[in-house]
Amino acid sequence: MILSIESSCDDSSLALTRLADCKLLFHTKLSQDSHHSPFGGVVPEIASRLHAENLPLLLSKLTDFLRTLTPSAPLSPLKAIVIANRPGLSVTLSEGMCMANALALSLNLPLICLNHLKGHIYSLFIDTPHAHISGGLGVLLVSGGHTQILHMRDYEHITLVAQSLDDSFGESFDKVAKMLSLGYPGGPIVESYAAKHSGALLPMPIPLLRDKRLSFSFSGLKNAVRLEILKAQGITENGAQSIVEGGALEELRAQICASFQEAACAHILNKLRIYFERYGAHFTHFGVVGGASANAFLRAKIESLCHEFDKRLILAPLEFCADNAAMIGRLACEAYARRDFSPLNDTISPKSLAEDFLRDCGVGI
Ligand code: KG4
Ligand code: ZN
Repeated sequence: MILSIESSCDDSSLALTRLADCKLLFHTKLSQDSHHSPFGGVVPEIASRLHAENLPLLLSKLTDFLRTLTPSAPLSPLKAIVIANRPGLSVTLSEGMCMANALALSLNLPLICLNHLKGHIYSLFIDTPHAHISGGLGVLLVSGGHTQILHMRDYEHITLVAQSLDDSFGESFDKVAKMLSLGYPGGPIVESYAAKHSGALLPMPIPLLRDKRLSFSFSGLKNAVRLEILKAQGITENGAQSIVEGGALEELRAQICASFQEAACAHILNKLRIYFERYGAHFTHFGVVGGASANAFLRAKIESLCHEFDKRLILAPLEFCADNAAMIGRLACEAYARRDFSPLNDTISPKSLAEDFLRDCGVGI
């Protein structure tokens, strides 16, 4: 079995995956949401300190589990140590990398360093031995750091088809929640506020509507939300003119969340429609992955698009949409089978939009 580590942002997670059939044997995770919530986003210094505290606790839990299997030598069934070392926050990746190096060196095991985004794709195959879709797999990755369309032929051939020019889908939910003082992470909060609203929507611009390029953009929509908030509160350049409170404030928040979510999802759907029309012949299955793939409103819309284009929709269980070590472990089964090991001096690569996937895949289908 292999031990995988995830620490690319604000989730510390460890997993054990059996190599023979890719079965997930153990998974544990500690999130940090309540620590970052007052700041409306992840504070890297807090995140790295919490990883330093949490990873040893998780390792001790995992060792307890292993002890139930082989009491005398709990770590002896391990065949490799796996870490998602790119892309992410450098200070949090480093915490996971330190633990991975320490384990690999002390146990004399191979180290496997993997791309976190590729890990999200393999969240679709957790607990399944086969990860190959012969007719091709189209993927929408929607997370806090990325919004991408990817095409997967097999483990070696994953290509980047489209990505965001600025903010990501998940990040835009986080920013909207922050502007409305709703806490972090914004995705689930904005989605639940949006679900409370059934009346008219505020007009919001749908990004890149007449642009036939396969690219995403969320910064303009984010600014439109900012302007709507100012307008709704009667705030001018000279300062506040009226204060919205109580029930009216809650209604306003729900209306803004619903209007924003509608426009953000319409943007995703418009671009997916172009992708399906242009490249539909290259895939039979379509997957949606990443933390924001938990959004039920988005899932329902993509489900009908897949139905319209006769594509089979595959989704990860909700538990494995957000960052987790189980998906890294599942991907690592493929790497291990190919002896795709990393040198011990392999290092972390922080987020850099232009490079994040290109180091690990090509462009185009
Ligand atoms: O994949 P993930 O856990 O971390 C990254 O790799 O970035 O994704 C986290 C992101 C956050 O931006 C969070 O607000 C967003 O996923 N998210 C959602 C929902 N649940 C989480 N966005 C929209 N709707 C949701 N229900
Ligand atoms: Zn992620």
